[in-house]
Amino acid sequence: MCGIVGYIGNKEKKQIILDGLKELEYRGYDSAGLAVMKGLELDFFKAVGKLENLTNKCASFESEGYGFAIGHTRWATHGKATEINAHPHLGEYSCVIHNGIIENYKEIKDKLEKNGISFLSQTDTEVIVKLFEFYAKDLNAFEAFKHTVKELKGAFAILLLSKKDQNKVFFAKNAAPLIIGRNSQNELFFASADSPLVGLSEEVIYLEDLSFGYANKDELVIYENDELKNKSFSKLLSDKSYAKKDGFRFFMEKEIYEQSRVLSEVLMGRVNGDEVIFDELENEDLSDINEITLCACGTSYHAALASAYLFERIAKIKAKVEIASEFRYREAIISKNSLFIVISQSGETADTLEALKIAKEKGARTFAVCNVDNSSIVRLAHLSLLTRAGIEKGVASTKAFATQVLTLWMLAIFMAQKKNQNLNDEIKALLHIPNCVVVTQKLHDKIHRISKRYLDGHGFFYIGRDVFYPLALEGALKLKELSYLHAEGYPAGEMKHGPIALADSKLYTIALMPKNMLYEKTKSNVEELIARDSTLLSISPLEFDLSDDFIRTTEQEHYMCEFFEMMLITQLLAMEISIRLGNDVDMPRNLAKSVTVE
Ligand code: M6R
Repeated sequence: MCGIVGYIGNKEKKQIILDGLKELEYRGYDSAGLAVMKGLELDFFKAVGKLENLTNKCASFESEGYGFAIGHTRWATHGKATEINAHPHLGEYSCVIHNGIIENYKEIKDKLEKNGISFLSQTDTEVIVKLFEFYAKDLNAFEAFKHTVKELKGAFAILLLSKKDQNKVFFAKNAAPLIIGRNSQNELFFASADSPLVGLSEEVIYLEDLSFGYANKDELVIYENDELKNKSFSKLLSDKSYAKKDGFRFFMEKEIYEQSRVLSEVLMGRVNGDEVIFDELENEDLSDINEITLCACGTSYHAALASAYLFERIAKIKAKVEIASEFRYREAIISKNSLFIVISQSGETADTLEALKIAKEKGARTFAVCNVDNSSIVRLAHLSLLTRAGIEKGVASTKAFATQVLTLWMLAIFMAQKKNQNLNDEIKALLHIPNCVVVTQKLHDKIHRISKRYLDGHGFFYIGRDVFYPLALEGALKLKELSYLHAEGYPAGEMKHGPIALADSKLYTIALMPKNMLYEKTKSNVEELIARDSTLLSISPLEFDLSDDFIRTTEQEHYMCEFFEMMLITQLLAMEISIRLGNDVDMPRNLAKSVTVE
């Protein structure tokens, strides 16, 4: 999704902006741009496609000496990915970059057009700079900016430069992240995520919604809800090791291989003997919770679905699952004594964040299971557990999903403990999980070999039962994100109610057939597909003669151990198919890492 970087200082500004945008590249974008202001000189550059194109465009431009710079990667929402639609958007003497969506941009545009102001782009963003200059005719720059921000509806993180007051960067934030960083050399930075700030800033301020203000080397003025605030900086806690591929071909591959270590870290300090402990929940009484609603998007939604089986089976608590974008506009009933859990890797997904706000407004007790500390979702929820996946750069989520499922399973056990159940088998299985996701050379080679037979076909059905149904959904999502082939996840028992009509030799079935969860039932469903000539890749510890291809998993005692091993296989399969098809594994087309628009 769109990315924002800004800089105030003496160094080569262009390079700082390009380096910062590079850090945000993994989030997905289709054009980029930057602007530099030094005194009354305002230069800007834009390019469609990769950052390389922008770098080439401004190759001969130099920007040493005190000044201001802003940069943006755009993921198209209003208008195609063209140079005109790329940010910064220009007025006569100002320019702006923006993340989010201005919902009332049409009304603003109509009003300005009636006043003789014309527009170049199809974007919602251009209205910001035009509205600013409209007000700046009669007001000083900050007043004009304030009036502009107050008129905007929707989600926005904004940086604006103007020759009307060439000694300031104006900023505003609502429902889209914006962070201000500072270092000991008194340089200031802006970014829409931590990563561009790491190594440059020592301290940060995470702006709250409805914030706006301005900054230069001597002043940082922040208003929240119209009130002048004296915000203090906090230490930026991150390092740069995530930015290296460590010899892997792709970040996604590195992240798949990392899962064993990462899952050990999820468990670290949280299992004591035969008990799950969460320091974060030490003083919380969850004993009155009799219903859980889980709410998320995409992969995180699949983790929610899997965990709903676990909350009901292990903790004996009624659990239902909501897709955040649906929940937002439904008149959902949230009962007393229910816990509303949102799950998000980034902590910034607009739909999930809004769902959380709604649940909170309705009086629910809210809980975030999230990978990013200090993210909007973590800050808003009453309680939170961090999933400890580390920074995930591959757009297609892998280790984040693994950590979400493990954390939620632990939470189910934690809540079950309050009911004095014998949970020894669960704890034993939990501790074994890091061993289930070790990638061996033999396994990876086998998946690589098999992948060559699955590069076409008219569709893939991933099928499974119980928690293996959400895993089937996730396996199918991974395949379609990376290969652009059509894939669906289905409950194995549901195929006969319609989808089986598609079965023929060019319909590929990927069957998740664990030994410890409804094996015979799944087998019968698979046989129904075989009888209709579907091509079958089965993943199971038990040999299955009818398979066209077979990946043998380890004999395990607990179905969750099988779940994690099968998860690993589906991730590697999607990646190997994508590599064979020549696709960009880390940045699949049309996708963004963090979806901060509706
Ligand atoms: O950051 P979140 O977990 O809230 O993101 C939700 C989805 O956008 C995300 O899981 C998406 O589906 C991924 N591309 C999946 O690989």
